[in-house]
Amino acid sequence: MNITVIGLGYLGTTHAVAMAQLGHDVIGIEPNAARVADLEAGRLPFYEPGLQDALTAAIGSARLSFATAHGESSKTAAVHFLCVGTPQSSDSNKADTSYLYSAVEALIPVLSTDAVIAGKSTVPVGTAAELAEHASKLAGHPVHLAWNPEFLREGTALQDSLAPDRIVLGVTDEHSENVLREFYAPITATGTPLLTTDLPTAELVKVAANSFLATKISFINAVAEVAEAAGADAVRLAEAIGLDERIGSKFLRNGVGYGGGCLPKDVRAFIARAEDLGVSSAADFLHDVEAINARRRERVVTLAQQTLGGVSGKRILILGAAFKPDTDDLRESAALDIAKQLDDLGAKVVVHDPMALPALVRQHPQWAGDQDVFAAASGAELVILATEWRQYRELDPFELGTKVGAKNLIDGRNLLDIARWQSAGWHVDALGRNIKNG
Ligand code: UGA
Repeated sequence: MNITVIGLGYLGTTHAVAMAQLGHDVIGIEPNAARVADLEAGRLPFYEPGLQDALTAAIGSARLSFATAHGESSKTAAVHFLCVGTPQSSDSNKADTSYLYSAVEALIPVLSTDAVIAGKSTVPVGTAAELAEHASKLAGHPVHLAWNPEFLREGTALQDSLAPDRIVLGVTDEHSENVLREFYAPITATGTPLLTTDLPTAELVKVAANSFLATKISFINAVAEVAEAAGADAVRLAEAIGLDERIGSKFLRNGVGYGGGCLPKDVRAFIARAEDLGVSSAADFLHDVEAINARRRERVVTLAQQTLGGVSGKRILILGAAFKPDTDDLRESAALDIAKQLDDLGAKVVVHDPMALPALVRQHPQWAGDQDVFAAASGAELVILATEWRQYRELDPFELGTKVGAKNLIDGRNLLDIARWQSAGWHVDALGRNIKNG
């Protein structure tokens, strides 16, 4: 099918590449000329495992092209996917949907009467119906508008797009449903469930899913607080409760908490929307979810102060800058939140990351450590593991111990083999656990 993908950020770029890989003919539209030039040259503007090769292959197959604005070829598209950003507004917790309106306005002159507009951006419930009305008014006839939320995760984005757990289609007319069912046939043919809903349900599915994931993380982090006070081990506890199929073990890892461009923003947007709808008490618990998340980062700072007897003037190495492994995304990263708090207390903070150092150099050059982790560790009196990169799990505590000024470790993600680090002479703390040091 001929399609356009409008907005080539993380979501749009991945969707465009993945759908070309599935055999569709895709035009990616993005007003940022530098980004289009990068993509046309086959350069992925962010790190995402597997996506660079897939981009090169899609361009090579001539199924994927890019433009800064719609042209004649957009008129033949059967589906236009809206993938523009809906960031948090600068003056409130609400999502800013203005890019969606601009995208729809730019689309109207090339929108054929049968074409379906499929929104994938994460939006406050009610946005799709308003956009449909706006677009129909501008077009002078009812447009086909559907909502098709995206659930891809950074780090596994391509695989999540090609083989998602489910496809959700919020539709109001049969034509849109038929076109989108046909579009996704290569995926549903492999057994992926496809659920059709109305527009508000589809919009809400996405924000509810992300808010649930944040809640699950904060739940185990709250249990970790209790475990610390009670002398229990929240990691073992999570294993035990996770074996109950009703609970499940995923997203039950306690640590420095959730970050990234989605979970924090979507939790806040959910709260803001519930307030707008007059049901703010329904989302009250999400304030606690946020507060627990913030407390876990503060806990690391408290542990650092206790370990070092105050952090002012002390050199502290933070392992990890990205909000999670396999991405170079620094948005709302717990690692950088901790870095900032320690910096504010006068510590000499050094941050290492296997992939995100270039981004760190651009945004927080004062913290960027050496690319070589052993060089970055030189003279540190405390090492804090904040992002669970595989490279860190494999880090040799004996060798690292020869570089640092003092062998103190806080494992903020419960990644490391504590016995091994202790046997290399390290004093170890870990969140949610009561580690005995000899
Ligand atoms: C999230 C959702 O998982 C995707 O389904 C969704 O499509 C996406 O947001 C989005 O809205 O676009 P992502 O932001 O890539 O994906 O990150 P997650 O894998 O959800 O991780 C979020 C945060 O939770 C990370 O900081 C991670 O370290 C943390 N986390 C995760 C924990 O602290 N504990 C866990 O057990 C799991």
